[in-house]
Amino acid sequence: MSALPQKKHQGLPVIGSPSGAWGARAAILGLYLFNRWFSFFPFHAPRLWIIRRMLGSIGKFPSILIGLEVRSPRNIHLGDYVVLNRGVLLDGRGGRLSIGNNVDIAQDVAIWTLEHDVHDDLHQTRGAEVHIEDYAWIGFRAVIMPGVKVGRGAVVAAGAVVTRDVPAKAIVGGVPAKRIGERRSELKYQNNHRPWFQ
Ligand SMILES: CC(C)(COP(=O)(O)OP(=O)(O)OC[C@H]1O[C@@H](n2cnc3c(N)ncnc32)[C@H](O)[C@@H]1OP(=O)(O)O)[C@@H](O)C(=O)NCCC(=O)NCCS
Repeated sequence: MSALPQKKHQGLPVIGSPSGAWGARAAILGLYLFNRWFSFFPFHAPRLWIIRRMLGSIGKFPSILIGLEVRSPRNIHLGDYVVLNRGVLLDGRGGRLSIGNNVDIAQDVAIWTLEHDVHDDLHQTRGAEVHIEDYAWIGFRAVIMPGVKVGRGAVVAAGAVVTRDVPAKAIVGGVPAKRIGERRSELKYQNNHRPWFQ
C-alpha cells in the first residue's frame, strides 16, 4: 500500500518533524504558556507586560481582556486605544494582521489570516493579510476571514462571518455578511475599557 503524501501546514512548525529546531519548539511552548496560562492572569498590567513583548507592535492604552489567543504574534499589530474583549482570537500565521486606532473588538471574535485551500489535493494552507481600520466595531462572535479589510468606522454585527471587504462606516451582518445599514456616528470617542478581573 503506498503512503499518502504528507500535507504541509505553512507557518506551523510541526513537533517531531526533522526540521523542528529547538527554537521553533521553544516558540510553541511560549505560545502555549501565553494562550493557556498568562492570558488568563486576572490583572491587566502583567498581562500587558507580556503582550507588549509578544506582538509585532502595540500602541497607547490597549484594553486587552482575559483569554486573548494569538498565533504568530509577531505579525499582529495593534494601534492606540484598542479594545480586545474576552476570548478574542488573533491569527497572524498567514500574514500581517493590523488593527487600527480605537478599534473595539467584542467577546469571542475570531480574526483569521490562514485557511486551508479546499481545492488543494494536499489540503495545503493559504494566507492573506487582514486590516481592521480605525474606529471599526466588531460584534460578539463575529468571524473575519483571511484577506478581508474592514473599513474605518465600519460595524460588524454579532455573529457575522465576514468574507469580503467592508466599506467605511457600513454596518454588515449575517453569514456571509451583507450590508444591513450605515453608521451615522462622527466617531469622536476614545476607547477605555479595563474592568477589574476581566
Ligand atoms: C448590528 C447592530 C449593531 C445593530 O445595528 P442597527 O443599525 O441598530 O440595526 P437595527 O437593529 O436597526 O437592524 C437593522 C437590520 O439589521 C438586522 N440585524 C441586526 N443585527 C443583526 C445581526 N447581528 N445579524 C444579522 N442581522 C442583524 C436587523 O434584523 C434589521 O434587519 P431588517 O431591516 O431586515 O429588519 C446590533 O444588532 C449588533 O449586532 N450589535 C452587536 C452587539 C454586541 O456584539 N455586543 C457586545 C459588544 S459591546
